[in-house]
Amino acid sequence: MDSRPVGFFDSGFGGASVLAKALSMLPNEDYIYFGDDANAPYGDKSDGDIARLTFAAMDALASFGVKAIVLACNTATATCVGDVRKHLSIPVVSVEPAIKPACGTPGSGKILMLGTAATTRLARYRALCARMPRPERIVSVACPGLVERIERGLIRPGDFDDLLDSYLSFLHGKQIDGIVLGCTHYVFIGEAISVYAKARFTGECRLFDGNAATVRQLGRVLEKNGLVNGAGRARVEYHTSGDRARLEPLFRSLIQSEDRAF
Ligand code: DGL
Repeated sequence: MDSRPVGFFDSGFGGASVLAKALSMLPNEDYIYFGDDANAPYGDKSDGDIARLTFAAMDALASFGVKAIVLACNTATATCVGDVRKHLSIPVVSVEPAIKPACGTPGSGKILMLGTAATTRLARYRALCARMPRPERIVSVACPGLVERIERGLIRPGDFDDLLDSYLSFLHGKQIDGIVLGCTHYVFIGEAISVYAKARFTGECRLFDGNAATVRQLGRVLEKNGLVNGAGRARVEYHTSGDRARLEPLFRSLIQSEDRAF
């Protein structure tokens, strides 16, 4: 039994969607969350800047005495998860776009992957797509601007339609079988994306995210390394590089709404 907390990291609120899953699936652990809100969004930054900020955050979390870290950020994972693993002596679990389950959807329509500019351009994500059975089915679209609105607390249907129109109008009327929420922030706006998509595309537009799979992997890693707590109470200590007084209430309300889509 190891009573140390598990560390969670994202550029901002996005990782809270993964943490919400952990609170329900692994309630006998305690958690420390660090959001680098002052530097969000990461997705529009260079690889070098994303890696530098991610490493600084990893060191901050490690200094809090966590026993494992969840890199709850697709952008940081695609940029530098391999180097982060080499750098730290504790296990690192990471989230990745749920391309694999989405590509398992039967049908002749497209699989739409929405992610940050960095995730969609990086080799790790491109290699993941290339391994899929029908990679030509995948349409990857970078959606700059969504994260900034989510960081401001916007999550409702309609709040993103202008941005989504500017990125997705070339697909209007097309058959979309699945939509991958390839940024942990987007999981909070699954309903907004679904409402938008069903009004403009044909096909089922089924949503996919990697959050539950990431938490299952965290459980396996804790087990395998003898790090399970068992007596924790899903306590969450919150840290941010941004304005804590403004951000913490939003963060707490996001992690409590577990009965929503994520
Ligand atoms: N939530 C993050 C992700 O999963 C990063 C978003 C950003 O900072 O651009 O990609």
